[in-house]
Amino acid sequence: MIKASDFGPNFTWGVATAAPQIEGAASQYGKGPSIWDTFASRSGKIKNNHQPDRACDFYHRYREDLALVKLLGFKVFRFSIAWSRILPNGIGATNQQGISFYHQVIDECLALQITPYITLYHWDLPQALENDGGWTSFSINAAFNAFVKLCALEYGDKVKNWLILNEPFGFTSLGYMLGVHAPGKTGLSNFFPAVLHTALAQADGGHILRSEVKNANIGTTYSCSEILPYTQSDNDLLAAKRVDCLMNRLFVEPAQGLGFPTADWEMLEKFQMEYGTWRFNNRMKFDFDFIGLQSYFPLTVKYNPFIPVIQAWEVKAKSRKKPHTAMGWEVNADSFYNIIKQFSSYPQVKNIVITENGAAYRDHLATGNVVDAERIKYFELYLAALLKVKNEGINVTGYMVWTLMDNFEWAEGYNARFGLIHTDFATLKRTIKYSGYWWQEFLRA
Ligand code: BGC
Repeated sequence: MIKASDFGPNFTWGVATAAPQIEGAASQYGKGPSIWDTFASRSGKIKNNHQPDRACDFYHRYREDLALVKLLGFKVFRFSIAWSRILPNGIGATNQQGISFYHQVIDECLALQITPYITLYHWDLPQALENDGGWTSFSINAAFNAFVKLCALEYGDKVKNWLILNEPFGFTSLGYMLGVHAPGKTGLSNFFPAVLHTALAQADGGHILRSEVKNANIGTTYSCSEILPYTQSDNDLLAAKRVDCLMNRLFVEPAQGLGFPTADWEMLEKFQMEYGTWRFNNRMKFDFDFIGLQSYFPLTVKYNPFIPVIQAWEVKAKSRKKPHTAMGWEVNADSFYNIIKQFSSYPQVKNIVITENGAAYRDHLATGNVVDAERIKYFELYLAALLKVKNEGINVTGYMVWTLMDNFEWAEGYNARFGLIHTDFATLKRTIKYSGYWWQEFLRA
């Protein structure tokens, strides 16, 4: 059986969370509204009309929750800062209560000998900034930079590990192209400027941390999926290449000074010409100490001329009779292995940390225990693939489970459960699942 010590003594094991998914206290203690508060309040946007206002109530229960992180044996706690908690309007006046809250969380981590990793932006843009165009507006960059500087000055003495953005492709595509996440905008005229300003923020944030935080370990995260063509036809192969440009290459390449991957997809060439993105190739570059990869599933794609822009279509795992999670996401550890290899092949990538990986299942509650054998199996498969990559000499130095406890899963509301700990959203009672105990044993060995 696989065990943590197989990865060597310096491998980092952690658990990841995000402010809007766990904190609650969404309109308390001086916090300004975020785009997720606004989006969720619009009927029909979130399944069952679930709201993030209370979530797991981590705001009031962070001590109890960090004690659970400790009990399970994790050495790292990844969390994000709710921008509008410390800057209610996104820029300008600060909220001291919000600033103190994160000091308390950090201090508690340090007292428990848990290393805090801060994600600066995990999708909850202050609504006040969205009112001015959000990520589509060039003015977002000055606001973001001021936010990063504030965080660096406040927390930089105590926190050395930082992640600039959580999944830039995730929030720009879901929030500014497809409209299924906050702020619910659609179309290329929103998506392209959002992509450009996000790529700038990614690098600017890195530079600010480098100058303000001594001995900082600076990374940023990327969602990634191996893209598999449905058949070997030219059309399917080209469709897979386009999706790869979009889902895997769009943000990691500008950070390396390569600009956007325009050569492999004429649509991106159009984007480059229309927005003059080449002017920023140098500014979008930042030498990250590590990159965070977040991979949950591969995608099998097929050419489809009726799909605008991308002309590709996903052939779902279910229809191909492949194992999948409750989200419908294919379980495929070989693809996890392949996508890590793909990212490690960039010469500029020095160090990879898996900053999220995990699975949602319909857990079974039996006699007070939460039996989640499928999730345990998922971790066994994915960790074996990770060990294989590592043993081949790829510099993978850490892994973080998504996630500590069942929480507000964005547009899925509270229906999709990814936690190692079961959250009863009526009583807020936490119950460690079998997978949580599995991790406890795994980390002990
Ligand atoms: C996000 C998390 C999310 C998880 C599962 C990642 O894309 O960073 O916030 O809960 O996937 O969907």
